Amino acid sequence: MTLDPKIKRLRELKAQARLGGGQERIDRQHKSGKLTARERLDLLLDEGSFRELDAFVTHRATGFGVEKSKPLGDGVVTGYGTIDGRLTYVYSQDFTVFGGSLGLAHASKICKIMDLAMKNGAPVIGLNDSGGARIQEGVVSLGAYADIFLRNVLASGVVPQISCIVGPCAGGAVYSPAMTDFIVMVKNVSYMFVTGPDVVKAVTHEEVTFDELGGAWVHNTESGVAHFAAENEEDAVYIIRRLVNFLPQNNMEDPPAIPCLDDPLRTDDVLDTLIPDNPNKPYDMKQIIGSVVDNADFLEVMQHYAQSIIVGFARLNGHSVGIVAQQPMVLAGVLDINSSAKGARFVRFCDAFNIPLVTFVDVPGFLPGVAQEHGGIIRNGAKLLYAYCEATVPKITVITRKAYGGAYDVMSSKHIRGDINLAWPSAEIAVMGPEGAINILYRRELAQAEDPDALRAQLVQEYREAFANPYVAASWGYIDDVIEPKQTRPSLINALEMLQNKRDENPAKKHGNIPL
Ligand code: HXC
Repeated sequence: MTLDPKIKRLRELKAQARLGGGQERIDRQHKSGKLTARERLDLLLDEGSFRELDAFVTHRATGFGVEKSKPLGDGVVTGYGTIDGRLTYVYSQDFTVFGGSLGLAHASKICKIMDLAMKNGAPVIGLNDSGGARIQEGVVSLGAYADIFLRNVLASGVVPQISCIVGPCAGGAVYSPAMTDFIVMVKNVSYMFVTGPDVVKAVTHEEVTFDELGGAWVHNTESGVAHFAAENEEDAVYIIRRLVNFLPQNNMEDPPAIPCLDDPLRTDDVLDTLIPDNPNKPYDMKQIIGSVVDNADFLEVMQHYAQSIIVGFARLNGHSVGIVAQQPMVLAGVLDINSSAKGARFVRFCDAFNIPLVTFVDVPGFLPGVAQEHGGIIRNGAKLLYAYCEATVPKITVITRKAYGGAYDVMSSKHIRGDINLAWPSAEIAVMGPEGAINILYRRELAQAEDPDALRAQLVQEYREAFANPYVAASWGYIDDVIEPKQTRPSLINALEMLQNKRDENPAKKHGNIPL
């Protein structure tokens, strides 16, 4: 049977669209260690689930010879598919077509996907591999970027938005990923900067490579722009699939619960002896998190940045939770500018998407220092405080050791609507640590004492007995219960269940004014 010519034409056009910028450029893409836009989507989505839209779209630009080349799809593959059976909208920029650069037609395709995602309440995942604004389209391409920026903002807090950077992302183009919820960068393949090495050299005389200026590692360790550093593209896709597994489809849904194979009543004796006798000795908070959550499965977010705070997703009895915790192994778990901002953004994400917050506290306070004060620790510390105050999701707090000063209030305390606040017997809840307190309260006596060290030691001991425990706070009802550490998992699961129908809201307003 001969093929209907119309069907034949359709098939030819689709085959042409699939080739993007042609085999030669596809080979070049592979040679540079990168996958093509379509190969990436195949990896990301459930097998056979991708439905492409707008494969026949071409640009309508003229000038600089661009009118002579009108590749089908205009340098971006868009559509929808599923991840573990759940609907996801996707776009994947095709570097083989005009270097993945963005003009009006290209941007309109992305906007269409974003509009659909908003209407139908499902995440948007963008795979970015682009030379930026399409130079031949001039200001039109700048306007087209702005069309996307606006949608990024309107979709923020409505559907999860995830950006994966798998190539260049430069100039104003960085601001679309920057306004999404999570950025995954691939080591040695991706880079993001507002101005590249050449401009930097011309303006500041600094010599720097692409990778040093805006590679995956820099943005995961120094700038805090990125949330995940993937080893390669396959790893990036694995991270994204894992991440969306914890998230609801939109802000009107609860996050997905899965059957839990880990005993909700499981206790762990190791936790009873984990906190060192010496309050100045560190321990690894990740050991507590790993012990408490289902199957020790914890997806850490911003793992390499501001490591005195830990944030990430896990499950308790199959239900997603956002974990925020101090890390005593890094700067004694202190809150500084970067860790406050990191924590605040994560808390706000969880609150926007109905993900309960579980907070583990061991915080000696805010980091002292001229650099911190002049850098705005007041403004940045306030971000975390603000975020916790405004969050209306279930909030459960466990104080494992120190909760000193303002940082006690900040870390999801009872006073800012913590729902269930627990403490371990090792908790020390006070205005400040014993040494600092005694030096202030007994400055004169210590100066006049014959043996100031002995006096100090005695006073510190008295202070410790009076304040360095959870029972003063518990006597005020600021701590709901003091638990044996090994009981932490069952206690958290029990509290989460009790809070599953929690209703709370903030006063009607256009929006608050978080200290940015
Ligand atoms: C049109 C572009 C392009 C662009 C690349 N190409 N960038 N075409 N507009 N912005 C084309 C190239 O002409 C080339 O076409 C093909 O894509 C591949 O590019 P190469 O340079 O051969 O690739 P490579 O050597 O890998 O270098 C990639 C690159 C480089 C580093 C991204 O192409 C580059 O510097 N491009 C310009 C980046 C840039 O300055 N963009 C504007 C940023 S400002 P042929 O036909 O030869 O294969 C911006 C503002 C956004 O984006 C504002 C938003 C508000």
